[in-house]
Amino acid sequence: MTKLLAAVIVLAAIVTASAALSQSFNVRLGATQGPVQPIAFSHKLHAGTRQMDCKYCHYGAANSQWANIPAVSTCMGCHKFVLTDKPEIVKLTSYWDRGEQVPWVKVHQLPDHVKFNHKRHVRAGLQCQQCHGPVQDMDRVYQYSSLKMGWCVSCHRQNLDNPNFPATMDCLVCHH
Ligand code: HEC
Ligand code: HEC
Ligand code: HEC
Ligand code: HEC
Ligand code: HEC
Repeated sequence: MTKLLAAVIVLAAIVTASAALSQSFNVRLGATQGPVQPIAFSHKLHAGTRQMDCKYCHYGAANSQWANIPAVSTCMGCHKFVLTDKPEIVKLTSYWDRGEQVPWVKVHQLPDHVKFNHKRHVRAGLQCQQCHGPVQDMDRVYQYSSLKMGWCVSCHRQNLDNPNFPATMDCLVCHH
């Protein structure tokens, strides 16, 4: 019994330590600016200043496994009329005219052996910002959380009283 207790405490310490590491992940790398994108789209301008709802563009986050990246048509709903003479909007419109999507550079990428489902997390009441940080203040989105196993597990440990919650340390819950 005491051995088991000791094992649990050691595990808890490891998880806590890796969570602390996750927190400082971007600080250590100095990566508080995401990759340069083909169009200088700013979340700060749209989700911050203009207070657009995240799900206006990323509607998939509440309804499917994936949070979609919006199609050019979503942008053109406004930019057919708004700021049409600005160089970045001219560029955007040329993708639209050619019937092409914008080749956005991916920011997040879990390894293939991990399954993650947005719908389940968003419907459980988690805010986007709990995992993605203050996106509404970012000109270029960067990866805020480490996305390491310890990061997932440390939040799951805080939610053990959730009645929908599966056996959280079961490897196959997260791994294929
Ligand atoms: C007007 C549409 C729009 C709104 C509103 C919007 N986004 Fe985005 N989002 C995009 C586009 C376009 C991209 C891809 C380009 C980029 O990374 O900036 C993106 C990228 C992202 C990414 C990175 C995706 C990857 O490649 O891994 C995250 C995370 C994200 N958005 C979260 C949010 C959150 C959280 C909010 C609300 C605070 C939000 N977005 C509001 C259009 C939008
Ligand atoms: C609901 C309307 C709306 C949608 C949808 C929208 N935008 Fe905008 N966008 C605006 C407004 C309004 C501004 C001006 C914001 C400001 O200056 O305060 C703007 C500004 C911009 C700018 C800055 C232009 C400049 O040089 O000043 C770019 C680039 C841009 N949007 C790209 C996009 C892209 C790409 C999408 C789709 C992923 C998108 N927008 C979706 C309303 C929208
Ligand atoms: C529990 C943590 C968590 C929450 C809450 C969350 N995300 Fe994510 N998000 C992730 C992870 C992890 C990934 C990487 C998924 C992958 O690579 O398979 C991701 C990836 C994304 C992407 C890239 C496309 C994709 O699906 O891989 C976008 C866009 C995004 N999130 C937007 C949002 C928005 C908008 C919200 C809120 C409505 C949100 N996320 C809520 C953890 C979260
Ligand atoms: C901020 C807290 C938080 C983080 C971070 C988080 N989760 Fe979760 N996760 C939850 C909650 C809460 C639930 C229970 C959802 C419900 O009630 O249906 C859950 C449920 C799950 C489930 C079971 C439901 C399903 O989708 O089949 C899986 C699998 C899962 N998470 C994987 C992950 C992975 C993988 C990561 C890391 C990449 C992660 N989670 C990060 C809070 C989190
Ligand atoms: C809550 C979700 C979750 C659970 C539960 C989970 N993992 Fe993971 N695991 C991840 C994520 C996310 C990654 C990818 C990021 C990383 O390498 O830390 C990962 C990575 C790994 C890796 C590293 C692979 C590599 O490329 O280095 C191994 C090995 C692993 N997990 C084994 C396990 C085992 C064994 C269990 C059961 C005791 C388990 N995992 C339970 C989410 C989870």
